Amino acid sequence: MSVQPKITPEAAATSRHDTPKTTNKKVLEFVEEAKALFKPEAVYWCDGSHTEYQHLLKTLVDAGTAMWLNPEKRPNSILVRSDPADVARVEDQTYICSKSKDDAGPTNNWFDPDEMKTTLRKLYDGAMAGRTMYVLPYSMGPIGSPIAGIGVMVTDSAYAVANMHIMTRVGDAVWKALGNSEDFVRGMHTVGYPLPTPTTADVPWPCNKTKYISHFPETREIWSYGSGYGGNALLGKKCHALRIASVKARDEGWMAEHMLILKLTNPQGKSKYMAAAFPSACGKTNLAMLVPTVPGWKAETIGDDICWMKFGADGRLYAINPETGFFGVAPGTSTESNFNAMETLYANCIYSNVALTDDGDVWWEQMSTPPEHTTDWMRRSWTPKSGRPAAHPNARFTAPAKQCPVIAPEWEDPKGVPIDAILFGGRRATVVPLVVEALNWQHGTFLGSIMASEKTAAAAGKIGDLRRDPMAMLPFCGYHMGDYFAHWLKMGEKGGAKMPKIFYVNWFRKNGDGKFMWPGYGENSRVLKWIFERCDGTAKAVDTEIGRLPANGSLDVSGLKIAPGDLKELTSVDKDGWKAELPLIKEHFATFGAKLPKALSDELSALEKRLG
Ligand code: GTP
Ligand code: SPV
Ligand code: MN
Repeated sequence: MSVQPKITPEAAATSRHDTPKTTNKKVLEFVEEAKALFKPEAVYWCDGSHTEYQHLLKTLVDAGTAMWLNPEKRPNSILVRSDPADVARVEDQTYICSKSKDDAGPTNNWFDPDEMKTTLRKLYDGAMAGRTMYVLPYSMGPIGSPIAGIGVMVTDSAYAVANMHIMTRVGDAVWKALGNSEDFVRGMHTVGYPLPTPTTADVPWPCNKTKYISHFPETREIWSYGSGYGGNALLGKKCHALRIASVKARDEGWMAEHMLILKLTNPQGKSKYMAAAFPSACGKTNLAMLVPTVPGWKAETIGDDICWMKFGADGRLYAINPETGFFGVAPGTSTESNFNAMETLYANCIYSNVALTDDGDVWWEQMSTPPEHTTDWMRRSWTPKSGRPAAHPNARFTAPAKQCPVIAPEWEDPKGVPIDAILFGGRRATVVPLVVEALNWQHGTFLGSIMASEKTAAAAGKIGDLRRDPMAMLPFCGYHMGDYFAHWLKMGEKGGAKMPKIFYVNWFRKNGDGKFMWPGYGENSRVLKWIFERCDGTAKAVDTEIGRLPANGSLDVSGLKIAPGDLKELTSVDKDGWKAELPLIKEHFATFGAKLPKALSDELSALEKRLG
């Protein structure tokens, strides 16, 4: 058992943090600009060390933002409860500020970059009064990898810094890798709760009702105001690794995607790598860590949320996980649903908005039999009779990836892993079958472009509404989605026959009583096995109107408890359902106007024709 940290402020101060650790002119200018705007009481240059991390946790506990969990249960772990008005990404207040509105496209909120900066400069003025401004150099991806990218973030949130310590590679090695290069993403984050006088009282979770999550793709900048939670504040994640990186990827000919990466090995010891794009809270972390139920098959994790892919010298697509941690949905996670996630959580984690048990451990819905009493995420007394969830539906754990028992040995390989298959999927109670293979890259791009999913709690807004979420990138694409589709098609032309095969999966079909037809979780390995064998050319498929479905007997269902009627429905084409989708797809495509690639409208016409 590891002991509780004993870091005194004196110990933390032994390495100097008040002076720059780089001579990079652009970095120094950026920090000066931030300092002049925010007017913090102090500037702290992060070194990424373990000592620093422990100091941050102590700072959070001392401020009342966090509390230590019972070290016997969760060593070196803290619980944080946020303001109830700051619990998820705020898509309505997320902006793409490209020079031209047309570049942001119809699916992003756009604002003129100069106007946005004028607005934000007013809000930023003195916003860090009485607080420390942390300067955080981080690398998305193994430092020095040709696929990786660097960011420099300033923030007044020790919570954000501590999370970034787990989620990214922070520290002096980043300054070294950056050298004098100007190629880094500049992130300015403030919770927007200044402490103008020494007597102004702080609150446990400072934030502001006004929120702006603004991106300037042309200048590779992120200006985030008012929120301390998740993707709004951990700028390396969605803001950098997806919204800014997607633009960089388009400009430079690579891909930045909202995908998990997993390694699957068959009983003969042959491995394949798969990347899967599912919308937020639709099963990426679960699939990335699944325990296969098919005997002899092994699954290992490379990443659970973001995937950057570049062509290798052999013409194949190589992927890295730009992150070093998991910021995973807690509710629903249990030893039954995600054994490996639960094992990962044994220590050294940050828990946000979960419930606290009476013996100082964490609890959330479906984790185990509900305790007789807990303190809920809003610090209220809770019993199973309370009639409300104890954890917020978007409660999260932040856990070091290296603690995952099935992390693949090559997960930090700077050259990445070659991707054999790309999966798309969402929550669809109807229409979409368990698995369908695309006829080719263009058809696969079409399937990705028409993806839809029922909304979850990962973003503020109404749960359950069906929305089109192409490639699971709707909230994360930093430019016009019509151009994004064109980029996918261009990548396919470049990669030709070496591109991964594309599949569309759906674990969420429901039957008449509203129950899931497919058991999901570890049983998804049956589908992964079929995909693996399709890549090898050994599993049989049948051509249908919508793509290739498993031929009778080719999906391994031995030992699976499932009603034969359900299985049949899951693996056949619901022609009427698809026909009813056509007008919805047309409506969806119409939003992209002239930027919709002709190849995709051709695919839609071909589908319509095949459906008859
Ligand atoms: P983000 O971190 O928001 O990007 O989410 P994610 O895509 O990583 O989702 P995650 O794996 O955390 O799953 C979210 C929810 O989906 C959890 O409540 C899971 O229990 C549920 N889920 C995951 N896989 C399956 C599955 O195969 N079947 C069913 N029915 N539910 C699943
Ligand atoms: C998601 O919403 O897809 C997440 C969580 O992975 S957040 O970091 O908040 O974006
Ligand atoms: Mn995500």
